[in-house]
Amino acid sequence: MNDTFLKACRGEAVPFTPIWIMRQAGRYLPDYQKVRGKVDFLTLCKTPELAAEVTIQPIDILKVDAAILFSDILIPVEAMGMNLEFHEKRGPVMTPAIRDENTVKKLLVPDPEEKMKFVMDTIRILRKELANKVPLIGFSGAPFTTATYMIEGGTSKNFLNTKRMIFQAPELFRALMDKITATVTEYLKAQIKAGTQAVQLFDTWGGIFSPQDFKAHALSYVKKIIHDLKKWLKAENISVPIIYFVGETAGLLEEIKEAGADVYGVDWRINLDDAIRRLGSSAVVQGNLDPLALFLPQNEIEQRVKDILSRAALAKGHIFNLGHGVVPETSPENVIALVDMVHRHSQRK
Ligand code: CP3
Repeated sequence: MNDTFLKACRGEAVPFTPIWIMRQAGRYLPDYQKVRGKVDFLTLCKTPELAAEVTIQPIDILKVDAAILFSDILIPVEAMGMNLEFHEKRGPVMTPAIRDENTVKKLLVPDPEEKMKFVMDTIRILRKELANKVPLIGFSGAPFTTATYMIEGGTSKNFLNTKRMIFQAPELFRALMDKITATVTEYLKAQIKAGTQAVQLFDTWGGIFSPQDFKAHALSYVKKIIHDLKKWLKAENISVPIIYFVGETAGLLEEIKEAGADVYGVDWRINLDDAIRRLGSSAVVQGNLDPLALFLPQNEIEQRVKDILSRAALAKGHIFNLGHGVVPETSPENVIALVDMVHRHSQRK
């Protein structure tokens, strides 16, 4: 197996810097569009053979060093009992928005093998089809990011309803977060039992907070999940690295490093060496190219690759990635070139 990604997650020596790309299976790839042209997004997520097919596409096309399960962070939200739809223009819409005691009370902590069996089936198919070519990453939304979608009922600009609940009805927010935290923990355990070899927690909206509020209302729940998962992994005698990704990390690195994760995502708003200094040189980092830097001419992309690789030398380990997901307008040729550049310029003698 190409286990460079797993080795880098553990801070072990690697022959080259591994790379995978957030949202590597997606609309910028004509092969994805072909499958997606036949079914809507949710049906794609819920049809294991198709979800496995689009998961594997970027492995063959881009030659990345890890596969990430094709699914969405909102799948567990539906399993908890909300109605979920994806609209072409508005994005995800969840009803009824969770705003009061009654709606929180009705939410379930689902049995993942029962309510999200299609995810575990996709993982089981993938482990067979990947045949240990590259490791498979599973994922979940972190509790706070998941909660924003449930409280707002969709995507939001200023997260007014979420922050209002936190500041005006803290006990209600805590009750909601406790249910999501239990759901995420069980969901990730089920993914690991089905065969994922690493897991990533996506806290896309963690950066909307002051450090103090991030710690109280997002990080504390992530810490609990990671602590419980690590205890369970130890008892089961399995080794599965945990990656914690936060969108807009620069103001929060001193807090983020308390999460207890094995790998920390770093966005592009900070130089990677500065981020490593603040996380500590024993940290393993993932990142940190601006997704829109893929619109530069290839020789300039190459300069940025070399710059990030040299700044990463300070860390115990580095996994190359974008600081956030690849956007649909990106040219696949530039993504293919990026993967090749990272592999070439990071060869250790
Ligand atoms: O990374 C991968 O390739 C794995 C698959 C994956 C998707 N979403 C597929 C997807 C992963 C890991 C996610 C995570 C996700 N989903 C996040 C966290 C990461 C991030 O990007 O910030 C969030 C916030 C979501 C919620 C979500 N899903 C939104 C807001 C949208 C609509 C906006 C958009 O980009 O269309 C989605 C849809 C979605 N998730 C698509 C894909 C490929 C596009 C659906 C389509 O084909 O129309």
